[in-house]
Amino acid sequence: MPSFVATPFLLIWYLWMVPASQQALLTLGIDTIGSGTFSIITRIALLIIVTSATIVGVAYFLAYRNPIDFNLSHAMAVLLLALIATGAGEYSREMLRKPYVIGSWMYSNGVRAPYVARINQEGYLAHTNWVWNGPDSSYSRGEAIFRGECGSCHTLGGYRPLKSLLAGRDRANIGSFITMLHEYKADSPYRKFMPPMVGTRQDVDDLSGYLNDQVNPPQKPIQTAQK
Ligand code: HEC
Repeated sequence: MPSFVATPFLLIWYLWMVPASQQALLTLGIDTIGSGTFSIITRIALLIIVTSATIVGVAYFLAYRNPIDFNLSHAMAVLLLALIATGAGEYSREMLRKPYVIGSWMYSNGVRAPYVARINQEGYLAHTNWVWNGPDSSYSRGEAIFRGECGSCHTLGGYRPLKSLLAGRDRANIGSFITMLHEYKADSPYRKFMPPMVGTRQDVDDLSGYLNDQVNPPQKPIQTAQK
């Protein structure tokens, strides 16, 4: 009971403490998952309030006032509403903290903000624990960089898939997208939800090449019938 009563006040306090840069996310609406001034996060955050209020109503009018009428399906309904409230709360919180996992200190992909300049000098792979011991080619370095820097939020073909998000772009175009993510200019719209692409010029190139190979797979040489 105390935590249930405290929840709305804590929610207001939480939203109050959200830094201005992240507050913009409440009204932004990320492009491909729902847009409009009244964005998806705001709508989902409202679900918390609506479901919680319904729980209060059901708990008071049914469970407390008419306990004899309170049956299994009512109990299941309360449980379902509670799950929706929790899911909506988690979703909003997850979206609000982007691109950080620890506000202004660590990005969602584990790169710490104060280290960005150093990684840009010394290269990403020198500073990650996620290097794999494959053959050292531009492709394998690109793959390791993709896994380390992008893989916490994107897959190639499943959740938030880079193959479709980059579809239609050629090598040069993918290169300029990654370069833009690398430069991370103050007016870049991606700053609101994506960390910078960190690393050297070579890293930018390796990652662009790797992603291009996924989006525009190299054609297999045509087999001609041998006599
Ligand atoms: C903190 C999570 C996060 C990380 C890390 C991240 N992204 Fe994203 N990215 C997003 C989100 C969120 C979107 C918006 C997706 C949507 O609209 O559904 C996005 C969108 C994109 C898009 C589509 C942009 C557009 O305008 O169409 C591309 C391309 C992309 N990301 C590439 C990358 C690459 C390459 C990396 C690694 C260097 C990366 N992202 C790292 C969260 C992330």
